[in-house]
Amino acid sequence: MKTFALSAALLASQVAAFPKMDMRAMEALMTPETMKLAREIHQRRDVAPPQGAGAMPLVPPPFDAASQYVSTSGQYAFVAPGPTDARGPCPGLNALANHGYLPHNGVATIEQFVTATSQGFGMGADLATVLAVYGAVVDGSLTFWSIGGSPHVGISGSHGNYETDGSPLKGDLFQYGSNVNLQMSQFEELYAMQPNAATANYNLDVLRQFRHSRFDESIQKNPDYVFGPFTGMAVSQAAHTFIYRFMANKSAEYPEGILNKETLKSFMSITGPENNLKWTFGHERFPDNFYRRNDADAYTVPYFETDILYLAEVEPRILGVGCNKGAVNTYSVIDPAILTNGAYDADQIAASPLCFALEFATLELPGLTGLTSTLLAPLVDVLNQATTALNCKSIPAINNDALAVCPGLTVYGGPTAPVASGAIQS
Ligand code: HEM
Ligand SMILES: *[C@@H]1O[C@H](CO)[C@@H](O)[C@H](O)[C@H]1NC(C)=O
Repeated sequence: MKTFALSAALLASQVAAFPKMDMRAMEALMTPETMKLAREIHQRRDVAPPQGAGAMPLVPPPFDAASQYVSTSGQYAFVAPGPTDARGPCPGLNALANHGYLPHNGVATIEQFVTATSQGFGMGADLATVLAVYGAVVDGSLTFWSIGGSPHVGISGSHGNYETDGSPLKGDLFQYGSNVNLQMSQFEELYAMQPNAATANYNLDVLRQFRHSRFDESIQKNPDYVFGPFTGMAVSQAAHTFIYRFMANKSAEYPEGILNKETLKSFMSITGPENNLKWTFGHERFPDNFYRRNDADAYTVPYFETDILYLAEVEPRILGVGCNKGAVNTYSVIDPAILTNGAYDADQIAASPLCFALEFATLELPGLTGLTSTLLAPLVDVLNQATTALNCKSIPAINNDALAVCPGLTVYGGPTAPVASGAIQS
């Protein structure tokens, strides 16, 4: 069980204050109509998915240079992290902290995460709220959390409850003994998938081929590989789609964005010439003259779901839960009907993978965190908002015992310990 540094009164006021603010934003974004629209837009775009630098999306999102420009000067100039600044597995959050969009020490409130991910990347308030509140409740101190941290504090120490296996560039914990280090073999594999620097574009089509390869590699090399209901089916998809959706540079010519080699390297903290690439921990950087997503084209929860379905066309295993059984190449799927006591079968998951992932996450929380329902309420609320907007079928009760066949789950990062509230910078 956790103990909390925050006073009960302060906590109550903060917990009470944020849902009002963020729920309004969520309601505006997540009506059934906007969800339907997101699906339709994506389907139309995917008739001819952007291929290489020359392709145009069929329904281009708007481009507005003034509002999409991301400043990298003045108060937003890059400042490398110092020894006491937290940096972790997420390149997006590391970059935001290095440029002063998040507090430089890497510890921030829910509201700071929601604001910064919008300012720097154009993440939808609905998605940012789910991700930030999950971080605060599962890996933080209910209202704030660390983008790195030592084990059990912050997302670096959250293996199995937030941080997970099969990441694009960071190694699997039980394969390398680190879940935060970028593995150059993984970077080089992705990098080589677009050989021509002049036309390179690491778009979703490239990323879904890479996703497939990463899934295989974890099965082949990580004896304790776990592809979990929330960490695998939701978080690990985000780790892949975010690369193109957020790191691509938008322009009037390419409103959906081009992610070329230099921009990829900058956001992934890679420097040096082609034959001598070097990774530096925590130096993720916005390139100068970077243009993020348009606010009218924010990356929302329903939009994210359509991307998951797009990845699944190449890697259908992402539409289900599974694990290795303590030895490589022993991957097997865990029957969703057993996991959900009959509430979801494979076809229902394939219709809405996020419904299954978020419904399961909601029910998993008491066991995962050891927190009371009162303390879990803010997170349960935002998860419910998301599943309501997606029109999800609920799961009356989960069967966590079905995951007992996965040895990789017996060591996980949570629940976490609080960090001092004095660590927050404004
Ligand atoms: C509050 C918002 C966010 C939270 C809570 C969050 C959290 C995380 C976590 C826990 C991971 C590790 C996942 C894994 O083990 O595979 C991760 C990875 C990642 N995140 Fe974030 N993130 C957020 C926003 C962003 C944004 C705005 C970007 C923009 C580019 C981003 C890009 C990525 C990428 C590309 C990875 C995969 C890293 C790799 O393995 O190569 N994230 N994030
Ligand atoms: C983004 O695209 C615009 C328009 O083509 C260009 O001027 C700018 O330099 C690009 N930024 C990056 C980081 O590539």
